[in-house]
Amino acid sequence: MNESTQAAVPAAEEKPAKKPIVFSGIQPTSGSFTLGNYLGAVKNWGKLQDDCNCAYCIVNQHAITVRQNPQELKKNTLSAYALMLACGVDPDKSIAFIQSHVKTHAELAWVLNCYTQFGELSRMTQFKDKSAKHADNINAGLFTYPSLMAADILLYQTNLVPVGNDQKQHLELARDIALRFNGLYGNTFTVPEAYIPQTAARIMSLADPSKKMSKSDENTNATVFVLDPPETIVKKFKRAITDSEAEVVYREGKDGINNLISIYSAVTGLTAEQIQQDFAGKGYGDFKQAVGEAVAEELRPVREKYEQLMKDKAYLEECYRGGADKALHFSQRTLDKVYKKIGFLPYK
Ligand code: TRP
Repeated sequence: MNESTQAAVPAAEEKPAKKPIVFSGIQPTSGSFTLGNYLGAVKNWGKLQDDCNCAYCIVNQHAITVRQNPQELKKNTLSAYALMLACGVDPDKSIAFIQSHVKTHAELAWVLNCYTQFGELSRMTQFKDKSAKHADNINAGLFTYPSLMAADILLYQTNLVPVGNDQKQHLELARDIALRFNGLYGNTFTVPEAYIPQTAARIMSLADPSKKMSKSDENTNATVFVLDPPETIVKKFKRAITDSEAEVVYREGKDGINNLISIYSAVTGLTAEQIQQDFAGKGYGDFKQAVGEAVAEELRPVREKYEQLMKDKAYLEECYRGGADKALHFSQRTLDKVYKKIGFLPYK
């Protein structure tokens, strides 16, 4: 054969760098997200989709650790799912699913429960807080909540977990469980890391800025919900608790104003310094109005998208079924590996 007729060997193609795997979850309670959930977490989920392989989950199995009304839970789960998409999670780019649709979560959680110590779970501050709040229903699920969360994360060989500060302790525990299991049986789980983006704001209650903004706050002025109508949002900001001074500056001891500055900054992209300059000489009233309007504008397209999605139940069904199928496919591989390592007799 003549050398010149030989097909050229294609240059060895460089393997594209593997994208990090991201997993996060949010509870369906109330069917809406707070401004804190949005600015601190869900808004960033969408932004990660191009550079990472992401899985996002509505955690209805976690939700039943406190008593739920069944009709409400069902309705809120669908609504939280739609809202997650409205906030920018794209079901074609990411795995967007509902926890109870994917059986591997409960299955791995049981196994992980047997590799999690009573002492470790007893130290979880969320357990202590929630058991104080629901003293009449301190159930075993509330106690083992972190092992289910560890299962959520570890099933997908997750590298990064975007979470708020309040979930860091649970994530640490998930890492400890992964390391312990890997130590006993050899490499099985990727050890995940918390991903707390710098831009993710920690949003405090508008009624008591020393407390985190919470879905379950009894004071209706404390919490802004993503689905609140614009007038309500503006009204809540006007009533926000601040201090007796009159200067819009970010300073220790000015929790209320600091919170409003963080929110305004998260929404407008302005720095605290720019905000201080813009509002120099103006009163708190003007500032609160501006923050309220900016937030209402930011959330308007989210609410509109949500309303449009909620009109198309068939589309939502298609999305969450597709998400669950993909999630099962991926997570089953991890679960199979785990069952094999711990010595469960294979079914076939
Ligand atoms: N515990 C989280 C919360 O209340 C929700 C959650 C469940 C989660 N599983 C998760 C978050 C896995 C990140 C990863 O906010």
